[in-house]
Amino acid sequence: MEPSKRLAASLLCWVVIFASSAQTGAHSSTQCHFPAIFNFGDSNSDTGGLSAAFGQAPPPNGESFFHHPAGRYSDGRLVIDFAAQSFGLPYLSAYLDSVGTNFSHGANFATAGSTIRPQNTTLTQTGYSPISLDVQLFQFEQFKSRSGYFRQQGGVFEELLPKQSYFSEALYTFDIGQNDLTAGLFQNLTVEQVKASVPDILEKFSTAIKNVYWQGGRYFWIHNTGPVGCLAYVIDRLPILVPQVDMAGCATPFNHLAQYFNQLLKETVIQLRSDLPDATFTYVDVYSVKYQLISGARKYGFGNPLRACCGHGGKYNYNRYFGCGSAIYKDGQKVVIGKSCNNPSKAIIWDGVHYTQAANQWVFNKIVDGTFSDPPTPLSQACHGHKQ
Ligand SMILES: *[C@@H]1O[C@H](CO)[C@@H](O)[C@H](O)[C@H]1NC(C)=O
Ligand SMILES: *[C@@H]1O[C@H](CO)[C@@H](O)[C@H](O)[C@H]1NC(C)=O
Ligand SMILES: *[C@@H]1O[C@H](CO)[C@@H](O)[C@H](O)[C@H]1NC(C)=O
Repeated sequence: MEPSKRLAASLLCWVVIFASSAQTGAHSSTQCHFPAIFNFGDSNSDTGGLSAAFGQAPPPNGESFFHHPAGRYSDGRLVIDFAAQSFGLPYLSAYLDSVGTNFSHGANFATAGSTIRPQNTTLTQTGYSPISLDVQLFQFEQFKSRSGYFRQQGGVFEELLPKQSYFSEALYTFDIGQNDLTAGLFQNLTVEQVKASVPDILEKFSTAIKNVYWQGGRYFWIHNTGPVGCLAYVIDRLPILVPQVDMAGCATPFNHLAQYFNQLLKETVIQLRSDLPDATFTYVDVYSVKYQLISGARKYGFGNPLRACCGHGGKYNYNRYFGCGSAIYKDGQKVVIGKSCNNPSKAIIWDGVHYTQAANQWVFNKIVDGTFSDPPTPLSQACHGHKQ
């Protein structure tokens, strides 16, 4: 390129940068360019893992957006989908999905029912996934080393697998812990007993993060756990006394348990910052966003915040034995009894356990700008945390 053209090109480049920073405010020059997202978690961010291994999340899951089951426990997209979309990245393929996957910009290791600590029960016994966080890490290690090997073979592998450099440039997202708490409660442990297990749970969490760090990961985006005491699958199964129900209709002791977990999670993240000073950690208070939505449902244009959109009967339209999409056979005919409501976009809770796409979008819109994060960095700038 001749010098004058080069100058013109670089001027044009500056004009573009200034124009885009004028559009989005003074901070846009610090936007991060994450080429990939690697996600770890449970059903809050499962985009097909449990479906691939243990049976499809049945219709009407997926009805509002994908118009067919899409491995998600929701009528549409999850918070992780909105996050990927905000970076212009494709929705994450589940690592366990063997058909139709494209991992060029990330992979999702989350499965519904996953816990941080491995459970000593099977999926059929208690519903918790055997793909606990330690297993998700084994899968990630396999994924990283095998994609390095296969990408070198060229051809289609080059199009379907991430570049090796992406592993250190990617955003690593985590949303896990809720099931560790409910697993204890459903074993009839008291809230105090479950609280006593939290330090051990978080030690395992910390080990998982360090493992990703040793594999090259540097940018971490960590969701805390939501107000589990507001979810039908907990309050329907573990009835509590009236004085322990708050204004929103949620069970205070279980929400306190979630808050206790979150307080220790936040301390764990602070410790990780000092143990791994060249990594960046954003702790996101999803609890407060979800609770704000549930307690202010009507103000935000939603209906009864505790009632499942998709389910079968009872106070919360939730039945433990007949979930969303479940069917019975009557005179040889299949009859779906776990049906969806008329307007999922006005519901917060999808199936008594998970959130609707409308609620997920609402939550994403609240957390994306950093208002609920520590440090208060927007998602688009999560490569610049507060370093030690
Ligand atoms: C499973 O059993 C092992 C060995 O007894 C124990 O150390 C571990 O804490 C148990 N896990 C859970 C989640 O209870
Ligand atoms: C995989 O996804 C990337 C990004 O969306 C796209 O550019 C590429 O063509 C896809 N590869 C295949 C084989 O579908
Ligand atoms: C918990 O208590 C309920 C009610 O007493 C009982 O039916 C259930 O079997 C208990 N569950 C476990 C795992 O002990």
